[in-house]
Amino acid sequence: MFDLSLEMLRVVEDAAIASARTMGMGDPKASDHAAVESMRRCLDTVALDGTIVIGEGERDEAPMLYIGEKVGARNQSAPITVDIAVDPLEGTNLCATGGAGAITVLAASEAGGLLHAPDCYMEKMVVGPAAKGAVDLEAPVKQNLKAIARRLQRGIDDLVVVVLDRERHHKLITDIREAGARIRLISDGDLSAGIAAAVAGTGVHAVMGSGGAPEGVLTAAALRCLNGEILGRLVVKDDAQKERMQQMGIRDVHRIYTTRELAPGHNLVFAACGVTDGNLLQGVRFTGDGTHTQSIVMTSTPARVLFIDTTHLENKPDVKVRFR
Ligand code: FBP
Repeated sequence: MFDLSLEMLRVVEDAAIASARTMGMGDPKASDHAAVESMRRCLDTVALDGTIVIGEGERDEAPMLYIGEKVGARNQSAPITVDIAVDPLEGTNLCATGGAGAITVLAASEAGGLLHAPDCYMEKMVVGPAAKGAVDLEAPVKQNLKAIARRLQRGIDDLVVVVLDRERHHKLITDIREAGARIRLISDGDLSAGIAAAVAGTGVHAVMGSGGAPEGVLTAAALRCLNGEILGRLVVKDDAQKERMQQMGIRDVHRIYTTRELAPGHNLVFAACGVTDGNLLQGVRFTGDGTHTQSIVMTSTPARVLFIDTTHLENKPDVKVRFR
């Protein structure tokens, strides 16, 4: 596949800058709208024939970036056909309140390379490359923590597990504490936590608990590039949701998906840009000397991971570029 990485970088950077301008304004809708609108506009300048497979919802509930929407500058010569999964602003509330860890996210693959996950919860377990193959979503929490600790050659009490701070995680949190591991409770953003778990030096060793299924697919796309692992099982709320999942082609709604089953693509591109400061990426900085963004861009083929610091000069003639 033609190397889309720099184009995808531009899309997530623009969305991050647009949403960062709303940071701390206490208006999650405005933050989300800024990111969605920017991402949609920017995608249409890229020479691709894209289909949104994970986006802002169904066509009747989302004006832009809805599932099935066509994006890209298809009139340009040789547009590439791709499936696209977006989370234009992961951590909408974090951005609106100035909290840590909001990012803009996009993944692309050849057609069929990203699971069309329904908009429901997914029970997840995310670990980095060292603990790949050592965890089991059905095993007791203590057993998984022991396995992770063994692979990381440390004690359980040296592990940090990220968990969304939700009532539904009460038992999980108790089990992790009883096993002796430490917990970082987050108010939002299990996708960025999942990426951090697969990058050494972030101080995150695992992510456990249920969060959005679409975020689970995006995490899987990132982990395919980072050699990490996510195990995920859809959480079925009621019979109506089960029926809807089956209509979408999911025969066994209780199956446990592996990283490769969530993001089976051969040519995956994943891009994320920091909006507010987080474990992995710094947020957008507006300065007299341009706007600074920090991003991660990865491809599965060739397998490479880029951390990118960009200075956006915004065509101002006096802006100076600084060498870090
Ligand atoms: P948004 O950015 O769409 O608000 O999602 C944030 C998030 O915290 C995700 O990271 C997570 O997967 C999901 O929401 C959890 O959902 P809930 O807030 O319903 O527990």
